[in-house]
Amino acid sequence: MRKKLSPASATDNARSMPSRIPVALRNSPYDVFVGDGILSSAGIEISSILPPSRCAIISDSVVAPLYAQPLETSLRASGFDPVTVTVPAGEASKSLSTVESVCNRMIAAGLDRSSMIAALGGGVVGDLAGFVAAIHYRGIPCIQIPTTIVAQVDSSVGGKTGVNAAGGKNLIGAFHQPRLVLADPRTLATLPPREFNEGFAEVVKHAAIRDPAMLDALGPDRDLAALVARNVMIKAEIVMADEFETKGIRAFLNFGHTIGHGIEAAAGYGRLLHGEAISLGIAAACVLSRKHAGLPEPEARRILESLASFDLPLRLPADISTRSILDAMAKDKKFSAGSIRFVLLRSLGDPFVSSEITTGDIEHAIASIR
Ligand code: NAD
Ligand code: GLY
Repeated sequence: MRKKLSPASATDNARSMPSRIPVALRNSPYDVFVGDGILSSAGIEISSILPPSRCAIISDSVVAPLYAQPLETSLRASGFDPVTVTVPAGEASKSLSTVESVCNRMIAAGLDRSSMIAALGGGVVGDLAGFVAAIHYRGIPCIQIPTTIVAQVDSSVGGKTGVNAAGGKNLIGAFHQPRLVLADPRTLATLPPREFNEGFAEVVKHAAIRDPAMLDALGPDRDLAALVARNVMIKAEIVMADEFETKGIRAFLNFGHTIGHGIEAAAGYGRLLHGEAISLGIAAACVLSRKHAGLPEPEARRILESLASFDLPLRLPADISTRSILDAMAKDKKFSAGSIRFVLLRSLGDPFVSSEITTGDIEHAIASIR
């Protein structure tokens, strides 16, 4: 029997009909649709909110061969004239040089200020294409069509776009809300096991900060479409409460990310997948939460066991030095004016932002996950 999600879940019919989750932002409201097979009706959905135009599908070298063709066909059937712009798969494509190359290819293909972009891929493509949409002709509409767990449950919603700089991750970017998000859980079937599993680090994060009961719905009999929809609801609620991360609420989504981003950068992009680094960051944040916020040991264990059930790492590889992680963290934009703002858990579902965590505390937490 399928495990039920929390009562807030409105997704029991998600497998037959798409779930619609509104992101009711004052200036830029939009809908997220989650539904098996929705990729093939993308043209109809998009044409209901935007006029047909010359447009770009931005995708990567793995996703485009799998899904660009059905998307192109669907867009053409609704009067759009798409060109597919492909970038190499992987985090290295989140760079300013790729932004420039994509913009030049779009201009050469005749896209102008009346055009729109469909971002077809994982979080890398979503962040990159969203940023291109933010700056192309000073801003054109972006439709997010996420194809990884990370992208469906997290990165496609909320409007954070951008690329990495030599000095750190996501340091160049813009808020640019999508006009529509179309998440087709069927596309997740082609993810290799490692890429599939990594996405659950963000799911466990959402459960830890907002919906502990979701940890019971992650087993092998999980309902993927319902899970995606539930996670989109969690993300949407947080974004609606604090769109620009100025009220200390959206910051909760950084649980596990402060040290996690440091580990991801220190390992060298491409070695650990994003979710794997975040899993290690969550493990370290649990150590800090146990010591400085009273997180009960059984609750910390529950989080770690959930991560382990997806083969996500809880032990830091020996060759990634604490110094290199701290150096990478120092460049993180979450360190405002040198002070560390760290998301801790008092208990499952009860996060807060602490300014009390010292570099020594972080060193101790990193040592604890070796
Ligand atoms: P990714 O985009 O690199 O995708 C992982 C791999 O899976 C890639 O090789 C990709 O080509 C492949 N892939 C994607 N969809 C596939 C499919 N359906 N079938 C087969 N292969 C497929 O990585 P990701 O984990 O999706 O995203 C990580 C990125 O997202 C990071 O850069 C991270 O910073 C960013 N992120 C952003 C936000 C945000 O709010 N903007 C939130 C979380 C993460
Ligand atoms: N993924 C973090 C955020 O959207 O704020």
